[in-house]
Amino acid sequence: MSEKISDKNSHLSIEKTILADDLKICKILNGMWQVAGGHGQIDSESAVNDMEKYQKCGFTTWDLADIYGPAESLIGNFRRKIGKDIKFQALTKFVPNPGPMSSSIVTHYIDQSLKKMDTDCIDLLQFHWWDYNNVSYLDALQHLSKLQNEQKIKHLGLTNFDTERVRIIIEKGFKIVSNQVQYSILDQRSQKLMTPFFVKHGIKILTYGTLLGGFFSEKYLGTDEPHRTELTTSSLQKYKNMIDVWGGWQLFQELLQVLDSIAKKYQCSIANIATRFILDKPQVAGVIIGTRLGIINHRDDNAKVFTVKLDPDDISLIDEITAKSNDLFKVIGDCGGEYR
Ligand SMILES: NC(=O)c1ccc[n+]([C@@H]2O[C@H](COP(=O)([O-])OP(=O)(O)OC[C@H]3O[C@@H](n4cnc5c(N)ncnc54)[C@H](OP(=O)(O)O)[C@@H]3O)[C@@H](O)[C@H]2O)c1
Repeated sequence: MSEKISDKNSHLSIEKTILADDLKICKILNGMWQVAGGHGQIDSESAVNDMEKYQKCGFTTWDLADIYGPAESLIGNFRRKIGKDIKFQALTKFVPNPGPMSSSIVTHYIDQSLKKMDTDCIDLLQFHWWDYNNVSYLDALQHLSKLQNEQKIKHLGLTNFDTERVRIIIEKGFKIVSNQVQYSILDQRSQKLMTPFFVKHGIKILTYGTLLGGFFSEKYLGTDEPHRTELTTSSLQKYKNMIDVWGGWQLFQELLQVLDSIAKKYQCSIANIATRFILDKPQVAGVIIGTRLGIINHRDDNAKVFTVKLDPDDISLIDEITAKSNDLFKVIGDCGGEYR
C-alpha cells in the first residue's frame, strides 16, 4: 500500500515505452499539477528531494505545464541538483490565452519554459488551446514546428484536443506524437472516435484522471458520499463532478466494490486495477499519476501495476458496471469538451 515519505530508496521495476524517436518514457508518469496550488503546501526543497527519490526508484518521467505554478522551475532545480548526466524526461505544456499567435509570442513562451527547466530542448511540448472558434491554434503549431526544427523542442504533442481538430492538424501536415486526455474506467470517451483515428495515424495517448484524483482507492470504499468541504484537493473536487455526471455516488460504490474484489484476487490495490485497465487500452503509452511532492507518495504501490495482468472475467465485471452509467460522450462530447 501507499507509504508516507521515508529515506528508504527502494529500487522498483518501472516499465518504459518508446513514445517517439529518441524518447523513452515510463508507463507511469509523475504528474506535477499537484504542485500548482490547491493540493497542499509544497516546499520546493522537500519537493526536489522527493523528485530525487522518484528518479532513484525508476519513475523518471514528469508531466508538467507552463501554468502549473513552480513546476518548470522545480524541474530546473532538480536538473541542477542531480547533475546533467542523469537522464530523465520532462514533458511540459504550452497553454496560451487565446489570441493572435505570432512567432515572437510563441518563441517568447517556449524560451521562458526552456530557461525555467534549465534545458536547451524540451522532450515533448504538449499544446493546449481553449477556443476552437479562434483558429490561431494552427499559427501556434506552425511556430512550434519551426522551434522544433531549431531543436528547441524534440517532439510535438497536444492536450485536450478532440478528434476532429487532431484530424485538421494532421491534414495540415503537422507531426503530432501524442494527445493527453482524461481517460479512466469512468471516462472512456476517447474510445469512440479518437482511438480508431490514432491507430490509423500512429498517435499515442497519455492519460490523466485515471485515478480520479484518488477516488479510485480503498479510502473511499464503502464510504458515504463526501460533502464538497471534505474534498481537500482541486483534483478530488474536479473528479467528484465527473462521478456525479457519470452516474452518481451509489453506482461509483458498486464500481469500487468490483475493483476491490479484483484487487484482492491479485493482492494489489484498487489504484493498481484502475491504472492497469487503462494502460492496456490501445494507443495508451502512459498513465500520468499526480504526485504531491514532499507530502505523500505512492511509489511502492504504483510500481505493483507492472505485476498485474487482468483477465477477460475481470474486464467483464468492470464493463457490467460501466454499462449502467451515463454516456459521457453524449453528455460532454469528445475528449477535452469539459474545457470548452
Ligand atoms: N492536460 C490536462 O488538462 C490535465 C488535467 C489534469 C491533470 N493532468 C496531469 O495529470 C496529472 C494527474 O492529475 P489528476 O488530477 O488527474 O490526479 P490523479 O492522478 O487522478 O490522482 C492523483 C492522486 O491519486 C492518489 N493516488 C496516487 N497513487 C495512489 C495509490 N497507489 N493509491 C491510492 N491513492 C493514490 C494521490 O492522492 P493523495 O496525494 O491524496 O494521496 C494523488 O494525489 C497531473 O499532475 C497533470 O500532470 C493534466
